[in-house]
Amino acid sequence: MKLWAGRFQKETDRQVDDFNSSLPFDNRLYREDIQGSIAHSRMLSQCGIITPQDAERIEEGLLGILSDIESGAVGFGAQEDIHTFIEDLLTERVGDAGKRMHTARSRNDQVALDMKLYLRREIGTIKDMVLNLISVLCDIAKQHRDTVMPGYTHLQPAQPITFAHHLMAYANMFSRDIIRLENCLGGMKECPLGSGALAGTTHPIDREMTASSLGFDAPTQNSMDGVSDRDYAIEFLSAASIIMMHLSRFSEEIILWSSWEFKFVELDDAYSTGSSIMPQKKNPDVAELVRGKTGRVYGDLMSLLTVMKGIPLAYNKDMQEDKESVFDAVDTVKTCIPVFTSMLRTMQVLPQNMRAAARKGFINATDCADYLAKKGIPFRDAYKAVGKLVLYCAESGRTLEQLTPDEFRSVSEAFGEDIFEALDLQNCVSQRKSRGGPAPQETSRQISQMESFVKAHSK
Ligand code: ARG
Repeated sequence: MKLWAGRFQKETDRQVDDFNSSLPFDNRLYREDIQGSIAHSRMLSQCGIITPQDAERIEEGLLGILSDIESGAVGFGAQEDIHTFIEDLLTERVGDAGKRMHTARSRNDQVALDMKLYLRREIGTIKDMVLNLISVLCDIAKQHRDTVMPGYTHLQPAQPITFAHHLMAYANMFSRDIIRLENCLGGMKECPLGSGALAGTTHPIDREMTASSLGFDAPTQNSMDGVSDRDYAIEFLSAASIIMMHLSRFSEEIILWSSWEFKFVELDDAYSTGSSIMPQKKNPDVAELVRGKTGRVYGDLMSLLTVMKGIPLAYNKDMQEDKESVFDAVDTVKTCIPVFTSMLRTMQVLPQNMRAAARKGFINATDCADYLAKKGIPFRDAYKAVGKLVLYCAESGRTLEQLTPDEFRSVSEAFGEDIFEALDLQNCVSQRKSRGGPAPQETSRQISQMESFVKAHSK
């Protein structure tokens, strides 16, 4: 029997039932739905809208349903959605009290509440995962403050950095993800329950009570907005998309670094895969899949933005389409972060190969020009002189360090014997002490600052 059976003279078509039903995917909201219903029925009884006995029966019934769902004793049926499923089952178990539960409520405010409660919990879990990833990055960085590697722009060797410095760039990106997730939680502090279908209710409800008992700061201010707002879901999908974008860029680097051409890292056997035909292969499938799955999370964001763009106030069934997008993004982010973190934690770093790559590509050319600038040559002139040296070296297949003092002096009299020290890659890195730079002591400062961030943002 349908919730709305009274007004209808015909059964709904099977196709419509199937088409309309969200139970196959919104069943994961059962905990939140029960939590919301308990808060609602306690409030109804407190406000004298239902009797305390009915409220008690409802609560006991709901807790029974919760444990039965959890133990697998009851399976989900063919109802329209999780809200209907639980209400039907409750009424079957406790009779009239169950039929009173929905007083002064609609599935519209109920579903908005469920989604906020659900996201609040999942965002907490995702936050912990990102914090753990940042900690792992800090741990690896601590071992590689002196590991010189080429830094790239345009994927061309640019200036020398360290592996630690490179990793900490990602740690900073992920720390902004934490802030975004927290902002997202900050945007979900108002409780929609009590908005009713769209226009509140004539029953003397206490919205402050349900809001605070469910851990919200306040009830939503406007009942129409309360039921039709999905900004919080879009904000989450946007934060999730940015997390995936970061993971995807990182994945791309892992894929490059683990290629034979780079060989900066070797992925652990447990986090690589082989080929069915090429016996030599060791493929970075985990990184590739993370990069690939980024597309689906972007799709989830785009899909909900598009669902929401043309719907008039207040609730419309289009909004049921928020669920699969949000659930898919939650599931995807929650599977990607831990496996990516383990892949990083177990990969072998190959400092000699990074160092060897740093010797190519004239990545100390800026240091050479800076050397002259420090001797009083205007930087633009120094830049030109070193440009000539680079061309000269490239023609004879040498590096700057391999030139003789006389060859240096052929482009500028200001070159002295100490140029060789200035070109030493380890010195190039350790002298880059500017705030945010790759010098080991500056990296240590960045790491400890990041560790304090992790501590401050953990529960
Ligand atoms: N399953 C619906 C959803 O997810 C619940 C709200 C239904 N409300 C309604 N008036 N049909 O959006």
